[in-house]
Amino acid sequence: MAVGRGPAGEPVWPEGIVGAIAHAGDVAIGLVGRTTDYAGLGVDVEELARGPSPRAARLVCRPAEMEWTEVESGTRRLTMLFSAKEAVFKALFPLERVWLGFGDAELTWVPGRCGFDARLLKRAAAGYPIGSVLPVHCTLTASQVLSTTYCVS
Ligand SMILES: CC(C)(COP(=O)(O)OP(=O)(O)OC[C@H]1O[C@@H](n2cnc3c(N)ncnc32)[C@H](O)[C@@H]1OP(=O)(O)O)[C@@H](O)C(=O)NCCC(=O)NCCS
Repeated sequence: MAVGRGPAGEPVWPEGIVGAIAHAGDVAIGLVGRTTDYAGLGVDVEELARGPSPRAARLVCRPAEMEWTEVESGTRRLTMLFSAKEAVFKALFPLERVWLGFGDAELTWVPGRCGFDARLLKRAAAGYPIGSVLPVHCTLTASQVLSTTYCVS
């Protein structure tokens, strides 16, 4: 079946399916699951060398996140954090179409999982009030970061 596109650009999946799409460079990814398992899925891929500039860091990061990104040493961590936030947005937006800005979630690095805990600072949906936490997993290659997350149903 064809995947549609909603008014905000979000993918519209067939009945019973949730998912997310990402593309960067020559990579395209679609992540899908069943609504019986997931309320939403999020995926993002970014070229590590083409992420946000250090000057954009304050638009992407909350103060505590700024410390972790260490932008003065390069933008690798900033790109990882940016990618993780995009994945969180893609997982949550389709639930109730609530727009989340970059400041609406605070991410904390979880070294054991190679990823972040994303704590919501704004209500995203009935099952996702302020304080909810989404686990984000990051997979790093030499040139890209892939971020994935999910919301349970
Ligand atoms: C919507 C957004 C996440 C898309 O990211 P992008 O870097 O432009 O592009 P990507 O390749 O990563 O993803 C593109 C896919 O995102 C999906 N997408 C677009 N808008 C979407 C939305 N509102 N909700 C869910 N998915 C969306 C589409 O499937 C799109 O694929 P398509 O271009 O083939 O239709 C981004 O443009 C954006 O607006 N971000 C700001 C909001 C945000 O990230 N907040 C952080 C909250 S913590």
